[in-house]
Amino acid sequence: MDAPLWKFLPARLAHSLAPWGLKYFADKMPEDTPAWRSFTWKGLHFANRLGIAGGLDKNASHLTLWQRLGVGFIEIGTVTPYAQSANRGKILDRDWDQKNLWNKMGFPNHGSDEIYFNILNEKSSLKVPIFVNIGKNRSRPNDEAELDYQYLADRFSKAADAFVINVSSPNTQGLRDLQSEETLGRLVSVVQQRAAGKPVLVKLSPDMTEEALHASIDTALRYGAEGFVLTNTTLSRPPNCTFPKEGGLSGQSLADLSRKNLKSAISHLGSRRKDLLLVSVGGVLCPEDVEERLALGADLVQTYSGLIFYGPRFFRDTAKRINA
Ligand SMILES: Cc1cc2nc3c(=O)[nH]c(=O)nc-3n(C[C@H](O)[C@H](O)[C@H](O)COP(=O)(O)O)c2cc1C
Repeated sequence: MDAPLWKFLPARLAHSLAPWGLKYFADKMPEDTPAWRSFTWKGLHFANRLGIAGGLDKNASHLTLWQRLGVGFIEIGTVTPYAQSANRGKILDRDWDQKNLWNKMGFPNHGSDEIYFNILNEKSSLKVPIFVNIGKNRSRPNDEAELDYQYLADRFSKAADAFVINVSSPNTQGLRDLQSEETLGRLVSVVQQRAAGKPVLVKLSPDMTEEALHASIDTALRYGAEGFVLTNTTLSRPPNCTFPKEGGLSGQSLADLSRKNLKSAISHLGSRRKDLLLVSVGGVLCPEDVEERLALGADLVQTYSGLIFYGPRFFRDTAKRINA
């Protein structure tokens, strides 16, 4: 693709202007949701298997826009119980040559009350499932984290079609510790009890050892999780990377880790994999990448960086390629 206009804007400004830019493209697109490899899981119908990843629409402010771009499902959030601002200092950067993004946002969002109403207001015009990605406020200590997750499951039990428990962002201090066996089971259990039968998925980090990944998967399943989102951003860095050490890296350099985690999860799950929903995310940057993740065994695929580096036609181009 030619260099998109937003390449020439500073990262944060491009990020703030993106919804307007995307609306320009979306208004020219057909109204249908493109159908390819449609399926139904736990009563949720997916017309196609490519959606947007957590963090792109933190406040559920642009739901009909994503639908118009042709996504098969939308993950909103991460939502925290109370509104909070971004971390201080630089929080977003891009590397156009390596097709990587770096962020240190820390769940800036308008809080659960506003976001809940944003979903309810749009629900009747939406044909695609909405996954609500939930996390704790940064002021909530880890030993009380379950209070935030429980509150959010309650709050969104009517509005969400499925929940994604986020315990894997590197930008909220100590959050990834919640992936450990001691805490994860408790979190999944409280969310599952309040989720009014909506499926609960867990989003995991790509930086765990294989042993820790398998332990987190087993614990989450034991307490009622029905799927996984693999993966969040990484703290690892490719050679010659100029981004800071802290913060999460997404895009091309995450692809290998994301694929590795997907393959490892599938082989570890064995016959237990059948009824679960596996969502692959990380370095999916073009329609061919979507096909590859599905071929590896993912049920659904998500992108964040793909929207930046490929552009808003990603979803409909994928449909064209797969339906060709
Ligand atoms: C700027 C930015 C903000 C993000 N915010 C969130 C978030 O709030 N919650 C979450 O679960 N993941 C968040 N992510 C991670 C993405 O959902 C995704 O897991 C990751 O970027 C890998 O996908 P990609 O390579 O397609 O970008 C964020 C990523 C970026 C780049």
